[in-house]
Amino acid sequence: TKRWDVTNNNDHSKLRIEEAARMLKAGQTVAFPTETVYGLGADATSEDAVAKIFQAKGRPQDNPLIAHVATKEQLQKLVQDIPSYVDKLIDTFSPGPITFVLPSNGACADNVTAGLSTVGVRIPDHPVAQELLKTCTIPIAAPSANLSGKPSPTTADHVWEDLQGKISGIVDGGPTGVGLESTVIDCSQSIPIILRPGGITKEQLELVVGHVMVDPALANEQEKPKAPGMKYTHYSPEVPLWVVSGTVDKLREIVEKERKRGKRVGVLASTETANILEVKPTMNLGSTIQEIATNLYDGLRKFKQSDVDLIICEAFPEQDIGQAVMNRLRKAATQYIEA
Ligand code: TXA
Ligand code: MG
Repeated sequence: TKRWDVTNNNDHSKLRIEEAARMLKAGQTVAFPTETVYGLGADATSEDAVAKIFQAKGRPQDNPLIAHVATKEQLQKLVQDIPSYVDKLIDTFSPGPITFVLPSNGACADNVTAGLSTVGVRIPDHPVAQELLKTCTIPIAAPSANLSGKPSPTTADHVWEDLQGKISGIVDGGPTGVGLESTVIDCSQSIPIILRPGGITKEQLELVVGHVMVDPALANEQEKPKAPGMKYTHYSPEVPLWVVSGTVDKLREIVEKERKRGKRVGVLASTETANILEVKPTMNLGSTIQEIATNLYDGLRKFKQSDVDLIICEAFPEQDIGQAVMNRLRKAATQYIEA
């Protein structure tokens, strides 16, 4: 696995990105940074190249991939006619942390869409992803660059940890910003449906298109999710994770009780909570919900590798990107406790 450092954005970076683009065009797999998480890319028009992604990640074959492009013109080449409300959404939020599910025109290989009639398309807003996609000119299929079942990678080291030896290269553009995967929105019908909450919230979308629905499966575990990937327990660390909503005192009580039982407990919390709680080890995820989103996956990974038997994470307010944070935490949690 080759590794290119492009963090200081100089002439070398340009050459390195060109080399990565050549490998992608030659049908190889290359991981690269986006503003959300690192993606594992391959030529979206080549069935063979895309098959390498599934192989490297150990990804279930029925889970479709997102096709990444640099511009709206390139996006239009992958889908059927774009309804006017989608046009507005694209103009408002792309490039950015949002994926549009639209009727496919068949330009992407069948394994990108996992045989569905729709395709997920996204224009990432990260200078390295933009440069790479512009240099490639082909659409790049890219799921998050983690082993299936692990938290998505927010640094090149996370990708290395999971996929070293299994992929052709990694473009290291430093830590990603948003920290959680894009909002996935089904735009194949007259009213858009959020399939996966992310960087762009329902409220932001509604300001542009009025009514937006949410996949009922997001609120009710009994429903079958419309995004095949949402049915898997994602992002779960190997150590059990309890998510606790309630006061800091309740949180401390639970931590102490588990410690008395001999468990080594690691806590994930906001700066505010961490300061009141004063238990060790606590990983401080940051003071704003944006910071918490940025640091969450790194926190989960770090505790998984350290010597704890149980991770306890506080529940965060479901405002702004907090909706996406709590969606990921619920999916990762082995237990949700309302204390
Ligand atoms: O931020 C992101 O979206 C990152 C970066 C790399 O762009 N990518 C990412 O890809 O998170 P992945 O494969 O880990 O998640 C894609 C999600 C899955 O839940 C998948 O089921 C859903 O999008 N999806 C993709 N195409 C779809 C389609 N045609 N219909 C319904 N859901 C689809
Ligand atoms: Mg993923």
